[in-house]
Amino acid sequence: MEQLTSRSVRENPARHHLAHLLLILTCAGILVAPASAAGGRWDLLQRSIGVSAMHMQLLHNDRVIIFDRTDFGHSNLSLPGGHCRVNPRERALPSGDCTAHSAEYDVASNSFRPLTVFTDTWCSSGTVSPDGTLVQTGGWNDGYRNARTMPACDSGDESCDWSETQDALGANRWYATNQILPDGRAFIVGGRRQFSYEYYPKADPSDTSVVQMPFLVQTRDPEENNLYPFVHLNIDGNLFIFANNRAILLDYKRNKVVRRYPVLADGDPRNYPSSGSSVLLPLKPNPTEAEVLICGGAPSGSYNSTKGGARTFVPALATCGRIKITDDASPEWVIETMPSPRVMGDMILLPNGAEVAIINGAADGTAGWEAASTPNYAPVIYRPDHSPGDRFEVQTAAGVARLYHSSVVLLRDGRLLVGGSNPHTYYNFSNVRFPTELGLEAFSPEYLDESNDMLRPRILVPSPTGGAAARVTYGATLALQFSVPASARRRRGGAGGGEVSVTMVAPPFTTHSFAMNQRLLFLEVARMAAVRGRAGTYSVSVTMPETSVLAPPGYYMVFVVNGHVPSEGIWVHIQ
Ligand SMILES: *[C@@H]1O[C@H](CO)[C@@H](O)[C@H](O)[C@H]1NC(C)=O
Ligand SMILES: *[C@@H]1O[C@H](CO)[C@@H](O)[C@H](O)[C@H]1NC(C)=O
Ligand SMILES: *[C@@H]1O[C@H](CO)[C@@H](O)[C@H](O)[C@H]1NC(C)=O
Repeated sequence: MEQLTSRSVRENPARHHLAHLLLILTCAGILVAPASAAGGRWDLLQRSIGVSAMHMQLLHNDRVIIFDRTDFGHSNLSLPGGHCRVNPRERALPSGDCTAHSAEYDVASNSFRPLTVFTDTWCSSGTVSPDGTLVQTGGWNDGYRNARTMPACDSGDESCDWSETQDALGANRWYATNQILPDGRAFIVGGRRQFSYEYYPKADPSDTSVVQMPFLVQTRDPEENNLYPFVHLNIDGNLFIFANNRAILLDYKRNKVVRRYPVLADGDPRNYPSSGSSVLLPLKPNPTEAEVLICGGAPSGSYNSTKGGARTFVPALATCGRIKITDDASPEWVIETMPSPRVMGDMILLPNGAEVAIINGAADGTAGWEAASTPNYAPVIYRPDHSPGDRFEVQTAAGVARLYHSSVVLLRDGRLLVGGSNPHTYYNFSNVRFPTELGLEAFSPEYLDESNDMLRPRILVPSPTGGAAARVTYGATLALQFSVPASARRRRGGAGGGEVSVTMVAPPFTTHSFAMNQRLLFLEVARMAAVRGRAGTYSVSVTMPETSVLAPPGYYMVFVVNGHVPSEGIWVHIQ
């Protein structure tokens, strides 16, 4: 059943606030964005980094930590210094493996180096702790209960690498989901046959207790799958947790379900292996409401259909469900239809706060080995504030299939880094229809087109290249200066363009079609003015979020957005 609501475009308090500033800016010469043909562009960055990007996380040194599983045999990247990893519990190469299963990709230099993970990180989860260190949890086999940390390394420190803690978790976490909490800990939920949650780090490391979660028992399919549940931290401090076809709002502090949301559409599953994707839509300043958007998935039974003699690949789900998770009376899913069906897609919030990229994946089949046959090459942009029926726009198609075990992250320059795809148990490069992908590509959304150069803000203060992140506290004022090309001719007429806003984005941990901890907040603009004597330069003061419930502590990217065109971001550390 498809239905489009007639409800009005979301209330946007920031808009009212900005209206008079825009007047100033228009007079001062900042332009209204012209309507421009959308499309975006693909660029090959690396033909092979030697490791397939099953998991990716951008850190505040502008390097992306990439890792795969450790037990499929040799990768195409040697360990540093001729080292070999000898792990008798390793399934594929117990007597020694001299290849890397993790890499650090440096965005600025478009280069990479091998990193060393010891135990298996297969299908695991992660969070960036408030100090900017990636904390990865779980995996498989010898890595089921381990936690591993990877810091944001100093430039040139080639010895900077992963550290591991054995048996750090209370349960095996294979296909679990993490969400950073306002206190900086990770909430870790689910995993294969794990109907429970726990926290990391532990106040007492010997405390390996977990909290049982009946909701995960209720929502599993006949094979006990509802893996990688979608988790979002609501603005009231509770956790929105979606598994397969419905969600709850969990007060994790009291272990109480405070709200139950209705079944999404016809009840078809949206979580692994029927992997759809999910985002918490951008939050307005001092938000009173929050919405979640879940797109794609695969009908019940699709995974089984890909097995056995018949091997049919059922068309994926083309529907999205959008729900106001803060609605305490009767929250309802509003169903919208994407231009094409998609399973194993990724949803990434673009830094302009106006667009969500839906990218990667297939139009049929499911997640799992050899379980899809038709890649969905074309990303789609979803514009949450447009009217229903006018929200989706198909983008330029990729040339590379990004199927099972592919991932994508937002970079500070506004591009999306896309990698991975390995629907095979091993690295298979020949005699397979979809060879294991070791390359990295960038998808540049339309806002990066040259035609937008005159509109593109550039942050001058704090220095975007100064290295250290700007330090801010909750509710504090952050003063920014930015410029917009002064030679720009004045033009009017872009639909919905022309406003200046400031956004703050938490870089997610992306794997298996879900970007964990992804969060975008519009910041309240307190004051904006032209800088005297410096044509095309403006100062703007923004108010940081008031609480760690709105923005858990850590590193965020801050962008100035002119119309729909974002600047390059700067790193901000809020604590
Ligand atoms: C990886 O290495 C194998 C074996 O040396 C080679 O056949 C294959 O082409 C390489 N693949 C890539 C993508 O570099
Ligand atoms: C898939 O097949 C297995 C094994 O035959 C069966 O137990 C399970 O119920 C099936 N799953 C679904 C979702 O139909
Ligand atoms: C992939 O490679 C492995 C190891 O070389 C091989 O055993 C397996 O059959 C290959 N898989 C496919 C789908 O060809």
